[in-house]
Amino acid sequence: MKLSVIGCGYLGAVHAAAMTSLGHDVVGIDVDEAKIAKLSAGETPFFEPGLPEILSAGIASGRLSFSTDMADAADADVHFIAVGTPQRRDGAGADLRFVDSSVQSLLPHLKPGALVVGKSTVPVGTAARLAELVNPTGARLAWNPEFLREGFAVKDTIEPDRLVYGVATESKDQDTAILDEVYASAISSGTPRIVTDYATAELVKVAANSFLATKISFINAMAEIAEVTGADVTQLADAIGHDARIGRRFLNAGVGFGGGCLPKDIRAFAARAEELGRGESVAFLKQVDEINLRRRQRLVDLVVDSFDGRVFGRRVAVLGLAFKPDSDDIRDSPALDVAVRLKGLGAEVVSHDPEAIPNALRLHPQLTYADSVDQALEGAEAVVVVTEWKQYRELDAAATAAKVARPVVFDGRNVLHPGAWRAAGWTYTGMGR
Ligand code: UDX
Repeated sequence: MKLSVIGCGYLGAVHAAAMTSLGHDVVGIDVDEAKIAKLSAGETPFFEPGLPEILSAGIASGRLSFSTDMADAADADVHFIAVGTPQRRDGAGADLRFVDSSVQSLLPHLKPGALVVGKSTVPVGTAARLAELVNPTGARLAWNPEFLREGFAVKDTIEPDRLVYGVATESKDQDTAILDEVYASAISSGTPRIVTDYATAELVKVAANSFLATKISFINAMAEIAEVTGADVTQLADAIGHDARIGRRFLNAGVGFGGGCLPKDIRAFAARAEELGRGESVAFLKQVDEINLRRRQRLVDLVVDSFDGRVFGRRVAVLGLAFKPDSDDIRDSPALDVAVRLKGLGAEVVSHDPEAIPNALRLHPQLTYADSVDQALEGAEAVVVVTEWKQYRELDAAATAAKVARPVVFDGRNVLHPGAWRAAGWTYTGMGR
């Protein structure tokens, strides 16, 4: 099929390349010229495992191209809207300006019968509003939320765990058939698919992210209780996780969730529910957010306490900047936040991350960045692990002790083995264990 993908960020660039690898002809459109130039040259504008391979294969096949000109999308039968919906600067709601402007600029290029498919996470009600713009052109609109996780984005796009199509009642069968053709490979391998209305499709996405965020804040709330009782939240998670109704995944306590989705999605959902007169129904999301943000300060407090409250001028190695491993994404990153807060208290912070330093440097040029873990560790009086990159998880406790000035470690992700680190002479502090 001929497809266009409007918006070539973490979602769109992966979607464009993945759709090409499934055999479609794809053009990716973005207003950012530098990004389009990079993608056209087969270079990925961000770190995502597996993307470089499918991107260059797609370009080499001649079936994947990129452009800043919306007219180049005119040929497509299906147009995916994959632009960002960040948090508004003036409030908690979603900023829909990129969604609105991309649909507006696509309108003059739509062929009759074309299908515009929203993938961006939007407040419920957005699709119905956009359909009123799209329908008069003779094209139609569907909403097909995306559940990909950064770090696993290629796999999650090619082999999603479910497909959700929000379609108009009048064209349900026709639109379902088109989307089934787009996702033929997933459909043929038995991927569950739910065909529903716009509102449900929009809500599925924010409900899923709200549930995940709640799960993480739940275990972090237990970590807060564990901290005052001497209990171990990691063992607690293992124990409750054995109950299949609860499950162990997304029960890792630590410095909390971040990224370009979970934090802004729960805030936007709460804001939308308020607008709908149902703020009460999701009032718990405010607490989910608050518990999450408290964990960052808790970690900072633990570090400061280890210096008897006087962190000014003390050298602290912060391992991690990205909001999660296998990503260079620093949006709402707890790791970066911890580094910034410690620096704000006067600590001599040296940060390391295998991939996220260029992004962090742009946003926080005042921080000090190390090229290697060893450089970050040199002379450190405290080591803080805040992103669970494999290379940090696998640090050898004894060898690491030999590199620092004071063997004091804070495990912000509960990924180190407390026994092994203590045996190597470290003062180990986890989050709720
Ligand atoms: C999330 C959703 O998982 C995905 O389905 C949706 O499409 C987009 O938002 P992503 O932002 O890539 O994906 O990250 P995810 O793996 O969900 O992690 C989010 C944050 O939660 C990270 O900061 C991670 O470190 C944190 N987290 C995750 C925990 O603190 N504990 C856990 O147990 C799991």
